[in-house]
Amino acid sequence: MRKVRVDLGERSYGIAIDAGSIGDVGNALKKFGFSRTLALVSNPTVYRLYGRLVSKSIKAAGFDLSEILIPDGEKYKSLVSSAHIYGELLRLRLDRRSAVVALGGGVIGDIAGFVASTYMRGIDFIQVPTTLLAQVDSSVGGKTGVNHELGKNMIGTFWQPRLVWIDVDTLSTLPSRELRAGLAEVIKYGIIHDERLFHFLGANRDKVLGLDRRALTHIIRRSCEIKAEVVSRDERESGLRAILNYGHTVGHAIETATGYRKFLHGEAVAIGMCQEALIGREMGLITDEEASRIRRLIESYGLPAAMPKGLDLRRLLEAMQLDKKTVSGRLRFVLPLRIGEVRIEKKVSDLLLKKLFTPTGRLR
Ligand code: NAD
Ligand code: GLY
Repeated sequence: MRKVRVDLGERSYGIAIDAGSIGDVGNALKKFGFSRTLALVSNPTVYRLYGRLVSKSIKAAGFDLSEILIPDGEKYKSLVSSAHIYGELLRLRLDRRSAVVALGGGVIGDIAGFVASTYMRGIDFIQVPTTLLAQVDSSVGGKTGVNHELGKNMIGTFWQPRLVWIDVDTLSTLPSRELRAGLAEVIKYGIIHDERLFHFLGANRDKVLGLDRRALTHIIRRSCEIKAEVVSRDERESGLRAILNYGHTVGHAIETATGYRKFLHGEAVAIGMCQEALIGREMGLITDEEASRIRRLIESYGLPAAMPKGLDLRRLLEAMQLDKKTVSGRLRFVLPLRIGEVRIEKKVSDLLLKKLFTPTGRLR
């Protein structure tokens, strides 16, 4: 088992990464001193695959575990679903030393963490992420939240889990499109912080896409280490943590402008990373060759790189202005300097953005 630590003083926690470990999670919970009553939050898709195994393991460790399922889908990451979960937790009499176990992808992790952070002013929660995106990104770092009709992830808290328990074998049941979308975030870590990881992804593409356990464990561990280091240094995103948003300024705008229907989050981020590399190239921050390497790796994983045709430019720019990353109306971009290093840039001209987004003026 690989272990990564997120160093946050008394709120520090471990990320345990292994293959075939999902049925052992119960034992790992014994040391925390939780009260007997725990709740598992999941959705029917994931529960059908792994729910019984996880429940059995937690019950065998001596806990009374109840299951709360919400329907599968981003639209259920809402205040309405949260209210349902609060009601169940109250009925089940979870107390202030109880804990919530989140079993699923980022949707389940985000809402379960949000509810845990607010139930009785905050109880513990455990992340058992089952998508690649959740394993390398959303389960680590303590951002929780739900969507509002006026914006995605607009209601939320910072609330760190007590443990993240990753079984890489759960990726064997994940649809391939979801796997590739998660890989976009892994590629991101290579670009922002680790050229060796970037190189590894290029050299081991077939192993990664073929779900080779060693290759998967390596890229998940490395991604978690990078995220853990960044979060340990800047938990509340007052500076450094923003580098994790590479590809996300353009990516989020694409998701918003396409109504969240055309692209998975990781796919939009893949386009965002390519386009933000082009912005960097136009500003003389990164060479043409390095920007091309980024695009080639992204395309080699079957991810989109080009801006979709027919997007409304005004909607795109508006979407960017509404982004949470905007401070006092100023957009912040994370731009690559080379593979393995990025910087936060506030001075990206509107003209350049228009050139980037207008089909006739599209950058190459
Ligand atoms: P998701 O949770 O919707 O999961 C994708 C699909 O895969 C779902 O249908 C799910 O039921 C299914 N699934 C999950 N595990 C499976 C498995 N092992 N086998 C088969 N099917 C499986 O999507 P996601 O990409 O994991 O997460 C996206 C969410 O994460 C978004 O809401 C996003 O806002 C959030 N997010 C949060 C953070 C953060 O820091 N908190 C970071 C990035 C993204
Ligand atoms: N997903 C970006 C962050 O956790 O900060």
